[in-house]
Amino acid sequence: MNLSDTKAKLSFSNGSPDINLPVYKGSIGPDVLDIRKLYGQTGVFTYDPGFMSTAACESTITYIDGDKGELLYRGYPIEQLAEKCDYLDTCYLLLRGELPNATQRADFHKLVLQHTMVHEQMQFFLRGFRRDAHPMAVLTGLAGAMSAFYHDSIDIHNAQHREIAATRLIAKMPTLVAMAHKYGKGEPYMYPQNHLSYAGNFLHMMFGTPCEPYKVNPVLEKAMDRFFILHADHEQNASTSTVRLCGSSGTNPFAAIAAGVACLWGPAHGGANEAALNMLEDIQAMGGVAKVGEFVAKVKEKNSTVRLMGFGHRVYKNYDPRAKLMQKTCNEVLAELGLEKDPLFALAKALEKIALEDDYFVQRKLYPNVDFYSGIVQRAIGIPVKLFTGIFALARTVGWIAQLNEMIADPDYKIGRPRQLYVGPVRRNVP
Ligand code: ACO
Repeated sequence: MNLSDTKAKLSFSNGSPDINLPVYKGSIGPDVLDIRKLYGQTGVFTYDPGFMSTAACESTITYIDGDKGELLYRGYPIEQLAEKCDYLDTCYLLLRGELPNATQRADFHKLVLQHTMVHEQMQFFLRGFRRDAHPMAVLTGLAGAMSAFYHDSIDIHNAQHREIAATRLIAKMPTLVAMAHKYGKGEPYMYPQNHLSYAGNFLHMMFGTPCEPYKVNPVLEKAMDRFFILHADHEQNASTSTVRLCGSSGTNPFAAIAAGVACLWGPAHGGANEAALNMLEDIQAMGGVAKVGEFVAKVKEKNSTVRLMGFGHRVYKNYDPRAKLMQKTCNEVLAELGLEKDPLFALAKALEKIALEDDYFVQRKLYPNVDFYSGIVQRAIGIPVKLFTGIFALARTVGWIAQLNEMIADPDYKIGRPRQLYVGPVRRNVP
């Protein structure tokens, strides 16, 4: 780590001696105070629930400037990756640090697309679930179950195992998501077709049936691929931090990814795309665009528990760059499907306009996040609302695994073990 020119000194009012804290600088972004020796030197902990001011690791993968609304994967702006690369190029970049050259690209695409099939026994495992189970409950189970099916790649301390597990996870998640969908619908599973693109194959497994040939629509294929790119990684968000913490105990990669899937499910995180679409449908049922003002007023009420889903972000205090790209994709998909007059899209635009002009949202720097438009895109493609977060999990798997592998490959990594401020009863005796 590079020391910054800034010096930091911590003083106490109780007569304890001052201590100097090292300050490190990254390649961009805020400096960090190194407090690792704080407890040993002073006997105090820092207190930061929700990690509002805490960097939990050093990373070279993703950078976000929340004030500017900038997102970089390995230094490349998300806008350029979305225009010039496909999802598997992005996976290669996140996992290996550089974009692939032509040979590396062909080899990587072939490698991933050859691993798309899952163990045949997986479908019998799936049968244990109720047909109406939420796909995220199913997917958490399936991701964890992979460790029971692929024993030969579960040693997290073995670099080769980590690489095989990464390939398997990226290749098989679309198959598992599509299987969860087909199981819920009571339709036969569709085996992957490895001549198709990653996104095209996913659409085929989701919407194809054995009864007739399925033709991949290139506009929807591109939209799906873009969705995957935009969701591929997002530095130390809740699910990624969960994967890192889980993996820090030395557990196997499949178990750590299952923990990430479980965390992503929550409506404050990946579940927000499902919640945003449900919210739009509720407003539509109330009367549509005419009721937007009433809904916004409800959100703004003091002590209101109603939030404008798909708005706000812990890091972005400006327009989420992914939301802009998703809005463009939304226009393309709706035009392709002849749904330009889609009432939910019109509603989303009206809601966005009011919120962007309203003092409540402006003062709190609440802007649309990626989930605001992604639900409309997925719904137009024909994806059921309950599956939205599962598709997010599919796309984020590469980020989770890249972050996990980065942590494990660091010789200095330690098991994650936060401390606490205990405010419960002091020692007492049972009467
Ligand atoms: N609607 C209305 N008010 C909001 C919203 C919202 N979506 N988000 C934040 N606020 C308000 C809060 O009420 C609070 O107001 P106050 O200061 O008057 O109490 C203020 O803005 C700050 O909110 P916090 O909850 O403290 O901000 P935090 O950084 O903890 O939350 C979060 C970020 C969870 C994303 C929040 O904005 C939210 O709940 N958004 C809706 C859910 C959502 O879209 N999540 C997706 C995130 S992106 C992703 O995971 C891919």
